[in-house]
Amino acid sequence: MYPRLVIDLKKVKNNLDKITEMVKGSGCSLMIVTKGYCADMEIYKLLEESNIDYLADSRIQNLRKYEGTKKERVLLRLPMMSEAEEVVAHADLSLNSEIETIRKLNEAAINQNKKHKILLMIDLGDLREGIFFKDEDEIYHVVEEILKLSNIELYGLGVNLTCYGAVIPKQDNLSILVEIAVKIEKKFNIKLQMLSGGNSSSVYLIDKKELPEGINNLRVGEAFLLGDETAYSQMLEGFYDDAFTLEAEIIELKEKQSVPIGETGVDAFGNKPVYEDLGVIKRAIIAVGRQDVDPDNLHPIDSEISILGASSDHLILNMNNTDKKYKVGDVVKFKLSYSSLLRATTSSYVEKIYLR
Ligand SMILES: Cc1ncc(COP(=O)(O)O)c(C=O)c1O
Repeated sequence: MYPRLVIDLKKVKNNLDKITEMVKGSGCSLMIVTKGYCADMEIYKLLEESNIDYLADSRIQNLRKYEGTKKERVLLRLPMMSEAEEVVAHADLSLNSEIETIRKLNEAAINQNKKHKILLMIDLGDLREGIFFKDEDEIYHVVEEILKLSNIELYGLGVNLTCYGAVIPKQDNLSILVEIAVKIEKKFNIKLQMLSGGNSSSVYLIDKKELPEGINNLRVGEAFLLGDETAYSQMLEGFYDDAFTLEAEIIELKEKQSVPIGETGVDAFGNKPVYEDLGVIKRAIIAVGRQDVDPDNLHPIDSEISILGASSDHLILNMNNTDKKYKVGDVVKFKLSYSSLLRATTSSYVEKIYLR
């Protein structure tokens, strides 16, 4: 049944081995982030047998699937206060920045007779989660309050960069995290076990040997799945970018002009599209849409095909330049960037096929 996502488990395993070698070889522990493919259980089996240290996800529903795992489970998104019990039940460690939420986690941990580890998130300028790095008083105040809690262990500090502000991790900004950790250790006479220095955008620093000393953990999703570091979007050597491919079927193939006829308003998603006049062209409609993929982050493997646009259930392709003789019923294949992979694995309309 199409559309389908073809998951080549050998290529996934290759990427997993490579990222493990790279990150653990640098002296860091490794959290593999599983939200990018909705915590698929076939990939989970590879992770479970691997040398990684943590299974990390932003959704508690995904972590719940890993009940009985030998790895430690990490909740990446700051917990909702309302899910504190679930977080303590299904995650060993969570990333936090709000003392009220941490207190709730403590109550849940007392109820469940557990000790729950947390990383306190520091915002180094990307402006997503974390206490702003310049607010030293707030950082110390929150640490002081955390240390009063009986069932919470302040395991370390973390930072997330690039996801919102697109800030690139460098030696200078990541060093601030290390400096803050040193100050906290001194002030409170404690040892912080983990300094988690970011995601796939920090991976390039390993090769450059510029990951500051003291950073001892990375949380990696995209580099593992798609083989690219996300600071400068470079492919990593020896990784595959096509461990996941999408296949969808042509349901209409016709020659039509390239500019719509009549007064135009907004499209199905409220955008005002701009059309390039290419004259009359051969166009295909394939049976997959914005509900299943992000058309801006989908790449036809036949490089002569380009994407003209999409609505919820239709993707419209320019087939004018391809030599291959496509017909209705044929299948077009694509590589996926992260946002398309995320949607394809989330959409219940996309079947998953595994190559072993
Ligand atoms: C807090 C946090 N850490 C790590 C990651 C992994 O990011 P990436 O897929 O770029 O490695 C994410 C996003 O998925 C995240 O939100």
